[in-house]
Amino acid sequence: MSAKPDAVQLYLDLLKKTLSFALWREPGVPVETFNFRSALLRKPLVSAVSAALRSANLQLVKVPSYTEEQRSHGMIHPLYADTMIGMPRLDNLQRSLETALREGVPGDVIETGVWRGGACILMRAVLAAHGVTDRRVFVADSFEGLPKPDADRYPHDAGDKHYKRSFLAVSREEVEANFAKYGLLDDQVVFLKGWFKDTLPTAPIERLAVMRLDGDLYQSTIEALTALYPKLSPGGFCIIDDYALPMCKQAVDDYRSQNGVASPLERIDWSGVFWRKEVSGTR
Ligand SMILES: C[S@@+](CC[C@H](N)C(=O)[O-])C[C@H]1O[C@@H](n2cnc3c(N)ncnc32)[C@H](O)[C@@H]1O
Repeated sequence: MSAKPDAVQLYLDLLKKTLSFALWREPGVPVETFNFRSALLRKPLVSAVSAALRSANLQLVKVPSYTEEQRSHGMIHPLYADTMIGMPRLDNLQRSLETALREGVPGDVIETGVWRGGACILMRAVLAAHGVTDRRVFVADSFEGLPKPDADRYPHDAGDKHYKRSFLAVSREEVEANFAKYGLLDDQVVFLKGWFKDTLPTAPIERLAVMRLDGDLYQSTIEALTALYPKLSPGGFCIIDDYALPMCKQAVDDYRSQNGVASPLERIDWSGVFWRKEVSGTR
């Protein structure tokens, strides 16, 4: 008889595939979803045609034009998945948290910028699968999408249009429902609703073992680093989802150089990077 399969790893593998919708082909995307990008004259046309079709229970859809590679590597905005970060970044998150648990790195875990909650759901599942009951998952988001760029304070964000994307605004109720549908909504999950500048500095967090930043902007990234990095335990993981975005990269590089963070950045994939806080010092 072959060796007994590891049920924890089988569960977490299946969960990652489910959260990222990797088990299924994505159906067509309703055209209205991305109508904000349409040219000025096309916008009302698309809205009118969509409305007319809707009244007849029909829908105008765009057939997905991306490849499986793009989808599995988190290069698209998926319509049906509960996370958009793709498999390599989900694997990295699981590995980081499991390493922190194995090595006894103290603290809770947080994601800043959760969208539909999939990455946080994975962190809660890792704790559950390993029987960890004394760590919490913090779920930080406006639940209203991104803020308008504050170009005076954060010139690197000038002109950014993410705030216009209603697709990125997912309500707290929807994220709670997503946790619940996997059986993972309980008092180890703590929601921090609001703009990071308001919620993170006063969040009831003493120490963190894993912090995962996914807020896209310079402002969102620097605010999360400033409020949370001092709370990251030595040996803890700081994971950055959006290093491929110039404004996010700039915030990370600025924070690291201004605070003497010397731990080398490790690449996860085309977008994600992470580093571990040095065990010997506080950086
Ligand atoms: C790219 S999505 C996150 C994707 C998610 N991590 C996943 O697993 O699919 C970015 C999220 O960050 C949130 N966000 C960005 N900047 C923010 C800020 N300054 N305050 C609060 N929420 C913010 C948005 O509301 C959005 O839900």
